[in-house]
Amino acid sequence: MDTSIITALNKQYNYELYASNCYLQLANLCESKFFNGFADWFKKQSDDERNHACKFGTYILKLNSLPGVEMVPPPELSSLEQFSPLNAFKAALELEQFVTASINNIMKLAMAAGDFATHNFLSWFIDEQLDSEAKLIEIIAKLTAIGEDVGALNEYEDELGEIKNDTIKLNFGD
Ligand SMILES: [Fe+2]
Repeated sequence: MDTSIITALNKQYNYELYASNCYLQLANLCESKFFNGFADWFKKQSDDERNHACKFGTYILKLNSLPGVEMVPPPELSSLEQFSPLNAFKAALELEQFVTASINNIMKLAMAAGDFATHNFLSWFIDEQLDSEAKLIEIIAKLTAIGEDVGALNEYEDELGEIKNDTIKLNFGD
């Protein structure tokens, strides 16, 4: 196994942890402004990102290497100097675009090395990134259309908050 691929996988392991922290901070920012439904949605993403990190960790272990938790920098959410739910989701999209670019780079390394196992492992993440970005683009479009309409904003927030609750129900099988 190419050591540069192991290094890249470990870097990605830490980027997923970073993404988890960013989503947690976005949840905190939303909750501090009483947007509890959006906060719930961001917390759910934070959990998903931690699970992504664990998937990378498990794969690195399968390669007989040790995943290393590094110092994760504090969330850099530059577009959030002025908080609004719309800006929070825009910051999330920027984060996902960064993660997508990073995963694509590891995929390029794996393809160049003829590393089919890493190629297959990463395929799930390529699909996941596409779905995450598409969902955020949809949310941003809806929030942009809603604009200053507080009633419509509350209704949409409830709708997103419920997605999180459905997932919890599915996880516990009831
Ligand atoms: Fe992720």
